Amino acid sequence: VRVAILLGGKSAEHEVSLMSATNVVKAIDKARYDVVPILITKAGEWRELELQNGILPDPIPQDGAELCLLPGGGGRLLRLQDGAAPQTLQKIDVLFPVLHGLDGEDGSVQGLAQVAGIPLAGCGIVGSANALDKDIAKRLLREAGLGVARSITVRRGEALGFEQASAALGLPLFVKPARQGSSVGVSKATDAESFQAALAEAFRHDRVVLVEEFIAAREIELSVLEQADGETIVSLPGEIVAAASHGFYTYEAKYLDEDGARVEVPADLPEETIASLQDLAKRAFYALGCDGMARVDFFLRPDGSALVNEINTIPGFTDISMFPKALAASGVAYPDLIDRVIRHGMA
Ligand code: DAL
Ligand code: MG
Repeated sequence: VRVAILLGGKSAEHEVSLMSATNVVKAIDKARYDVVPILITKAGEWRELELQNGILPDPIPQDGAELCLLPGGGGRLLRLQDGAAPQTLQKIDVLFPVLHGLDGEDGSVQGLAQVAGIPLAGCGIVGSANALDKDIAKRLLREAGLGVARSITVRRGEALGFEQASAALGLPLFVKPARQGSSVGVSKATDAESFQAALAEAFRHDRVVLVEEFIAAREIELSVLEQADGETIVSLPGEIVAAASHGFYTYEAKYLDEDGARVEVPADLPEETIASLQDLAKRAFYALGCDGMARVDFFLRPDGSALVNEINTIPGFTDISMFPKALAASGVAYPDLIDRVIRHGMA
């Protein structure tokens, strides 16, 4: 079975994707699968990569031959060469995007797989698009009776004053682009000046921005894995303990500062809380129309109530990432996890 792994991508999470894909490629059972790694550059070009001793090269070269996927081509890749006829490569059997954020995790590449006629590993078009948009996701979650943090959605060109926002949502405020991951473009605001700066920063990343209330809570995450036979596994919860020095779980705390955050798996929680979070995670997953896989992130408040923070349909697979860790703690080891995601895609 030939599995094309897409990595990199045009989004602000390009580097995170490289880390995730390196781990995914390492963990794939090479006896069962032939890996065809494809780099998407920041400019959006598809480039051929070659494995070195079964793993991705480090650093990843940017100058491979240009590739493209044919619409309706049943998984045929073309290698484009200057001045020569395009060369048709061997068919791929399944597309596994290990891309985070826009142009990868938002339904776009999922739609491409559909149009190209290739089975897709991971979440499909609708679930991906719903989950990546925090504004749409919150509305669907609310409609399904799930708790979410209160927020105000602001579109580019609309005005929202600090007084109005803080009167409605309290302080501090969190300002987030609607469609981003890894906390890119997210800031905390405590006064009019930092609020204006936070809005400007968030609008650099999207034309829709959420101003959200601060929730004093533990950050708890669960992995949801739908199997080829339709059964859905929900992992034990894991906990993110961000270092106080970063203020919140920022991009830096996640990927750049080794002491920025700690991941505790499984989280120390009573049995009934675990069962209730597992039920909520599954409900959130289906409320957004997800399939395949996702990580559901919660705020767990001291009174035991849980709010859904967000759902990631291509969760991080980096060394610090919760998705594989929480499943491993629940009896699904890394290679087995990758195998299950691929088999679900091909079923
Ligand atoms: N968006 C990052 C990769 C995550 O959710 O893990
Ligand atoms: Mg995210």
